Amino acid sequence: MNGEQWIDPEISRLREMNLERRLVMYPSSGGKLSIGDRSYLNFSSNDYLDFANHPLVIQTAAEAAERYGMGSGSSRLLTGTLDIHDELEGRIAGYKGYPAALLFGSGYMTNAGVVPSLVGRHDSVFADRLAHASILDAITLSRAPLHRFQHNDVGHLNDLLARQGRGKKLVITESVFSMDGDIAPLREIAGVAEHHEAMLMVDEAHATGVFGPQGSGLIRELSLERAVNLSMGTLSKALGSYGGFVACSEPMRDLLVNRSRALIYSTAPSPASIGAALAALGLLASHPALSTILLHRAALFRGLLQRAGLNTLNSQSQIVPVVLGDNARALDVSRRLRERGILAIAIRPPTVPAGSARLRFSVTLAHTEEDLIKAANIVIAEIQSEKPL
Ligand SMILES: Cc1ncc(COP(=O)(O)O)c(C=O)c1O
Repeated sequence: MNGEQWIDPEISRLREMNLERRLVMYPSSGGKLSIGDRSYLNFSSNDYLDFANHPLVIQTAAEAAERYGMGSGSSRLLTGTLDIHDELEGRIAGYKGYPAALLFGSGYMTNAGVVPSLVGRHDSVFADRLAHASILDAITLSRAPLHRFQHNDVGHLNDLLARQGRGKKLVITESVFSMDGDIAPLREIAGVAEHHEAMLMVDEAHATGVFGPQGSGLIRELSLERAVNLSMGTLSKALGSYGGFVACSEPMRDLLVNRSRALIYSTAPSPASIGAALAALGLLASHPALSTILLHRAALFRGLLQRAGLNTLNSQSQIVPVVLGDNARALDVSRRLRERGILAIAIRPPTVPAGSARLRFSVTLAHTEEDLIKAANIVIAEIQSEKPL
């Protein structure tokens, strides 16, 4: 097409660096898939609790769609706020231990909606070097200068806060890191933020449903609700639905309702997604051991890989990376695992730092202990039998 001549060379350049991405279709979602006549263990799904296909989650979503319609039809500030949104916000606030909560269209939109409502070009943001792209994009959108601290390095954060304190200060970290599966020193980060009178926002996208009482997250597990101003999470991973939220104080929620462009200028989340999330929270309340079982299985899988000498970084969660380094190598091992019934999509830059391409295994409750032992043995065998590229 006219004006698009630059695209082919751009894609070729990505291909040469083994960085081209393609959309691959799957017939269903979840930790176990049947494709044609073969079954696969899928380690690239964030459906950690296997809720996306849970009959109660699906039924509650269907009932919500029947009652409210498939779409909410309007933005929250017009006629898009339905009583089911209010119900879920109340449930999330209680679940997370905060006075209030606010829903957004997705986790990405939550970050994009919150950060620019809090800081602008005359303020300062401090974020972990491995913070998720949605956090970085949110900061860009805010126009606030970004100071990145070394991964999980509280001393570095403290130095930056002491030296770069322009305007309002906002510290952002994840609690469970999406690509490394390790955990932030939240208590220490909260102490430093408080000392410098900075606001603290914690992205619990991968901790929600997995850590803390009934999977309520690490902030709650560590009783840091009063030290963390904004507890961000998503409905799209362990809760098996789609959408995002932030739990916070009442005044903070009022501010976001008035300022957050991702909330104001976008249609309210679909009632079906909200119904599904309500059912997922109900399941967590009635089966509080689910997250412990998940973490136990993840530890089993990680232990097997570690004992075979694979580099799983400091993973302490259901996310278990195996760092391979080279992009082509990660693609090759991923392809060979697929041939043996294991889906672990290669994660390459810019999603992870250059030179740290990896396979990222998400353990889910769809994986039995037997599945995990079998998968670990295959992964170990494939990596150990690698021929130099
Ligand atoms: C740390 C983190 N934050 C936010 C998001 C975005 O969440 P969602 O998938 O609901 O947009 C993700 C998901 O990729 C994530 O890993």
